[in-house]
Amino acid sequence: MSVIVLGSINTDFVVKVNRLPIAGETIDGYDLLTAAGGKGANQAVAAARLGAQTHMVGRVGRDRFGPELCDGLQSQGVQIAHVSVDERSPSGTAMIMVDRLGENQIAIVAGANGNVGQSDVENMIELLPYAKVLLMQLEIPLNTVELAGRLARANDIPVILDPAPAPTDIPAWLFACIDIITPNEIEASQLLRFPVHDRETAIEAALALVQMGAGTAIVKLGGQGAVCATADETFFMPAFPIRPVDMVAAGDAFNGAMAAAIAAGLTLKQALVWGAAAGALCATKSGAQAAMPTLDELTSFLEQHRHIVPENLSP
Ligand code: RIB
Repeated sequence: MSVIVLGSINTDFVVKVNRLPIAGETIDGYDLLTAAGGKGANQAVAAARLGAQTHMVGRVGRDRFGPELCDGLQSQGVQIAHVSVDERSPSGTAMIMVDRLGENQIAIVAGANGNVGQSDVENMIELLPYAKVLLMQLEIPLNTVELAGRLARANDIPVILDPAPAPTDIPAWLFACIDIITPNEIEASQLLRFPVHDRETAIEAALALVQMGAGTAIVKLGGQGAVCATADETFFMPAFPIRPVDMVAAGDAFNGAMAAAIAAGLTLKQALVWGAAAGALCATKSGAQAAMPTLDELTSFLEQHRHIVPENLSP
């Protein structure tokens, strides 16, 4: 059974800086990298490297980046038969700055991702009979996410939504289309309009999202762990101790790993542990897709850090 990822595919231009600039400031960077990215594609690679049969649904432009991005996905084991070439716009792009602490700032130009629409969702239909989960983000049009979410739910396929980048308002239809929502603290603050910055405020946010209709809400707090709330219970997964190098795509690793865990038949609690471990491992390496852990890496990391996983989350 497989994971379907409907989402963005980008080329990332990454500048390494000592510190992130403030508005209006020019600073020196010390390195420039070009790498495959996009929240959708990153999450697809994360799921595939953890052993899930993974189908990417999305668009690239008819430019030199398109074939590179598709080849990159394929080389990581992601099925790309449902990635099409958009004739109207260039491939998606992200400009990223990463500082010495691994913190980042990202600006994206959607390009072809902004044209992912009804025909892509219709193409996806043939994948549904084999799908165990649909994973989406918000770097493609909101109405496409709604269409795909409704279709998946009508076919009893659970839907995970990473609400990144966060919309200014939570659309009324959102909770009718998704099962699990996974904002980080910034996205949770933007969605709920109160500051989310620690375990207590994350619990408040997760419960608010459940009350609004999310079956499960997971608020990711980076180095402070993650909170998960359902209608019945709330639990906390502490962060694994790591020395972060580059936080870009750590959230993507988290989501991709959760989807892979669900596709492998693991419980929600086990999926949360996989997500936290994959996010931590990703943050220890530079880049987005290149930093996604393999199943062997994840398994041995979890063995070494078994003491971090609370008893109520252990299998
Ligand atoms: O989550 C990280 C990703 O966000 C980057 O790869 C970039 O492409 C943007 O989509």
